[in-house]
Amino acid sequence: MKIYDKIVEKNARIGVVGLGYVGLPLAMAYAHKASVVGFDINESHLDEMRAGKDPCKELDDSVFQDADILFTSSLYDLRTASFYIIAVPTPIDKNNKPDLRPLLGATETVAKALKKGDYVVYESTVYPGCTEEDCIPLLEKLSGLKAGTDFKFGYSPERINPGEKVHTLAKTVKIVSGCDPESLEEIAKVYELVVEPGVHRAPTVKVAEAAKIIENTQRDVNIALMNELSVIFGRMGINTYDVLEAAGTKWNFLHFFPGLVGGHCIGVDPYYLVHKAAELKYHTQVITAGRRVNDSMGSYIGQKVVKMIIAAGKPVLHSKVLVMGITFKENVSDIRNSKVVDIIDELHDYGVEVDIVDPYASAGEVRKFYGLELSNAPSGKYDAIIVSVAHRDYEHLDESSFRALLGDDGILADVKGLFRNKISKYTYWSL
Ligand SMILES: NC(=O)c1ccc[n+]([C@@H]2O[C@H](COP(=O)([O-])OP(=O)(O)OC[C@H]3O[C@@H](n4cnc5c(N)ncnc54)[C@H](O)[C@@H]3O)[C@@H](O)[C@H]2O)c1
Repeated sequence: MKIYDKIVEKNARIGVVGLGYVGLPLAMAYAHKASVVGFDINESHLDEMRAGKDPCKELDDSVFQDADILFTSSLYDLRTASFYIIAVPTPIDKNNKPDLRPLLGATETVAKALKKGDYVVYESTVYPGCTEEDCIPLLEKLSGLKAGTDFKFGYSPERINPGEKVHTLAKTVKIVSGCDPESLEEIAKVYELVVEPGVHRAPTVKVAEAAKIIENTQRDVNIALMNELSVIFGRMGINTYDVLEAAGTKWNFLHFFPGLVGGHCIGVDPYYLVHKAAELKYHTQVITAGRRVNDSMGSYIGQKVVKMIIAAGKPVLHSKVLVMGITFKENVSDIRNSKVVDIIDELHDYGVEVDIVDPYASAGEVRKFYGLELSNAPSGKYDAIIVSVAHRDYEHLDESSFRALLGDDGILADVKGLFRNKISKYTYWSL
């Protein structure tokens, strides 16, 4: 009997390794179709999941009801699976180089559980070649099994977008690949169990890896162009959003907007491609330029606000600025690699006193990751307010909402252009 048939008949279990933003929704989707072992190394998160809660706050509690899933950190439990899916983080280090430690760590774990006839599918975003050149040799070495004959493998990248309820795992075509035609077919069928529009069968593992990495690289480069245009238009005294609205009336104008590129995908993944290209003796130019522009936007915004405080005739030292939003994007609680922190760092460098509020972020995490304090609510008058994240909670605000917080000569820096054409009383600026 083939692996797909065994899975649907519950004669084989799916083991998902890494239960974060990607792994948990996938594990829960399978847990309503098959028998699942959900493995993670974070015990407190496992406790939350056992209690029917998603630590990432993306899934409703109802998803945990009647699910056939065992949450565990035990290798003994993991060994009961036969179809392993690895969805652990693939971050970069402080020099922007791929940090494969979680991926290779998870590979080591799976190697200890691997048996003849098993499947291993990687979901983590990597550079083309990482699965076959870095992971599989380690899997073979530690398990003593031969890839392709003793066990099969594949790669299937995830496309979900945190905080977004439309393009979910179940509703988005998924790319799948396998190490040979038979494994491609089996892996495709297993994913078709949970992906309604079906899957795209990529011809090779490397093609599937490359497809994922360019989806995010393309986005990064396009946003970088918008950011560069915003810097230029800022010098010209014209509003970028006005320009984009006008240009967007052409049928083939692409709809991208300026902004901070943080988080652990778009701002990170291009560095994986840059790294692999350099290994192949090609020095990326367009991709690297895009990264440079996007990585510089936080300090650019900080400096812009400082210049506006000076232009208002106020001393910068001990001036007060309120930053609204510290998460890496709107409507999520995730603060990892938030570029709002670059704005705050820049302001601190100038001796500005910064208060930070955010309806989604956890004060404990902000303290732990950045050594910054979140305020429960704004207090007193500010020289400037920076609306740094377009949380839905801020969308309804208007000029009167800022009256209690800004003096008559106050400054409103609106990073995402939420209040364009709505502010006349204060000095208004947006990217
Ligand atoms: N978050 C997204 O929107 C998104 C979208 C597409 C692709 N991706 C990619 O998917 C991968 C996973 O991202 P994520 O956002 O789910 O990460 P995450 O940080 O939310 O979750 C990863 C989980 O893996 C666990 N983990 C780490 N090392 C482990 C190990 N050795 N063994 C077992 N568990 C381990 C962590 O405890 C955590 O629970 C990354 O490669 C990411 O680039 C993420």
